[in-house]
Amino acid sequence: MSRAGKQVEWSGAEMISSEMMGRLAEALLSSSPSAIFFTVAALAAGVVAAYLYAPAWGLRRLPGPAAYPLIGHLPLLSKHGPEVFSILAERYGPIYRFQMGRQPLVVVASPELCREVGIKKFKSIGNRSIPSPVRCSTIHRKGLFFTKGSRWQSMRSVLTSIYQPSHLASLIPDIQPYIKRAGGLLRHGEEITFSDLSLKLFTDTIGQVAFGVDFGLTKDKDAAAATVPPSSASSSSPPQAHPPAAAADFIQEHFYATTQLKMDLSGSLSIILGMLVPLLQEPARRLLLCVPGSADRRMEDTNMALRRMLDGIVAERTTQAESDRGKKNFLSVLLNAKESTEDLRKLLAPDYVSALTYEHLLAGSATTSFTMSSLVYLVAAHPEVEQRLLREIDDFGHKDRVPSAEELHNSFPYLEQVLKETMRFFTVSPLIAREAGEDVEVGGYVLPKGTWLWMAPGVLAKDPKQFPDPHVFRPERFDPESEECKKRHPYAFIPFGLGPRVCIGQKFSVQQLKLVAIHLYRHYIFRHSSKMETPLEFQFSIVVNFTHGVKLQVIERNI
Ligand code: HEM
Ligand SMILES: *[C@@H]1O[C@H](CO)[C@@H](O)[C@H](O)[C@H]1NC(C)=O
Ligand SMILES: *[C@@H]1O[C@H](CO)[C@@H](O)[C@H](O)[C@H]1NC(C)=O
Repeated sequence: MSRAGKQVEWSGAEMISSEMMGRLAEALLSSSPSAIFFTVAALAAGVVAAYLYAPAWGLRRLPGPAAYPLIGHLPLLSKHGPEVFSILAERYGPIYRFQMGRQPLVVVASPELCREVGIKKFKSIGNRSIPSPVRCSTIHRKGLFFTKGSRWQSMRSVLTSIYQPSHLASLIPDIQPYIKRAGGLLRHGEEITFSDLSLKLFTDTIGQVAFGVDFGLTKDKDAAAATVPPSSASSSSPPQAHPPAAAADFIQEHFYATTQLKMDLSGSLSIILGMLVPLLQEPARRLLLCVPGSADRRMEDTNMALRRMLDGIVAERTTQAESDRGKKNFLSVLLNAKESTEDLRKLLAPDYVSALTYEHLLAGSATTSFTMSSLVYLVAAHPEVEQRLLREIDDFGHKDRVPSAEELHNSFPYLEQVLKETMRFFTVSPLIAREAGEDVEVGGYVLPKGTWLWMAPGVLAKDPKQFPDPHVFRPERFDPESEECKKRHPYAFIPFGLGPRVCIGQKFSVQQLKLVAIHLYRHYIFRHSSKMETPLEFQFSIVVNFTHGVKLQVIERNI
């Protein structure tokens, strides 16, 4: 199959070039004007073909399906959705090529090969490939996620100090009041779009953690005054310099920007073009920017607006005295770090600080919120899981007793299993992008420098060899005492990635998810709304999202 595929793929290029040689000879002999025209046209076609096929040439030995000219495997992606990566792994094995338009990817889909790419060969594969939407946007490019080489190394080590366990533990009292406030919005018997509430909640908590600002998205509009979140009133009294209106604008822009970064064919025209013919992307983008209402124009406007807002916040905080900034929020910690040494001052120029702060907001809210909604959705459909979970949570103690970081870690083993199984079942980040910085051998193939190498945690998560009955939701498979768990490859479950570039927010998001789950299940359980589609539909962008949201009925517990 793959051999035949390759022939189909290459015959086009060969045809063009032999035709071209024929025309050339003919033209030289006769030199008539029409022959010259054909020669030029054929040459041009040859150049275009060479341009389109060049990146794939170095990967021709890898197995993979036949690619359409120009669009590559994009039709497969739109036909199957991300399931396509599992289907292809089954057919071609754990390493294969996939053509995103002109851009070839090498997909890596076994625990052992992920270890090779993510850990063992990190020296050669330490950067992330940068997708075309991001290349045009500083605010995305200058965060930790897409930064390369030694700058990444330096920024990562500064940020790692911010995510230390002791700091995370100290955030619980700041976060809990927001959770309580959001929980207070639920009413017995009501139908809600849980995923909307969840996104608002995690944006509010990240607003607090990132800026020390209350975005107020989960404020009860009727009783706003009565439920002022606490930490802002008490301990670290964050400066409320930004009126709620600006915060709301910011959030609007932020949601918009998130949903616009699509990986599939529904993005802006220039992004689509960027996947097909990268050379034309920048000129096309320039042109489209002049077209009011085009997706490109809207995206540019959004990016500019976001940058202005963030730069404003950063500039304002920079001029504040250290003591007025608040000690705990991410932005203050970053600014304080910046003032500590000359090297850091150089490293953390204002545009990088803005990008890092924005990234914190972006990376932290959508992913965590998706996972929380998935958990509630799945638990609602599995009464036996719900029962066991409720028992564990009730046994911990009185409803008002907020667990410490240590207790979250040690006293809720079943919740931990439910969370892991949720992330296996609905993997929010099914692909992890990396790029080869030099020629490197992976899985027996030599991959040229510049190859995009994408690990596929979403494929691993549904592998029946590692997870028997992969389409059954069964938290007990993550019981560390179970045979299944003991037998499993250590890198079979990597929803947060692996190696030196693993998700920096992993512990933070797990801590938050557990806090929210505990608070919610102390007061409520949920049932699927009849207004929700089955099966649930997803849309695939940089991270996965629900197409229509998770709609649930709220049932108050009387205990
Ligand atoms: C359920 C929640 C989350 C999931 C599933 C998730 C998943 C991921 C994954 C798969 C990666 C790529 C890792 C790799 O290349 O090996 C990543 C990277 C990253 N994540 Fe998360 N993430 C989550 C929450 C967060 C939160 C809360 C933050 C910040 C507060 C965050 C910040 C980042 C950053 C900055 C990176 C880039 C790290 C680097 O390149 O050095 N993430 N995340
Ligand atoms: C990452 O990218 C930087 C800058 O392009 C380059 O100098 C470095 O060698 C790359 N590192 C790896 C491990 O690929
Ligand atoms: C996910 O989709 C919902 C619509 O279901 C939308 O309101 C929300 O903003 C999206 N979330 C993100 C993070 O883009």
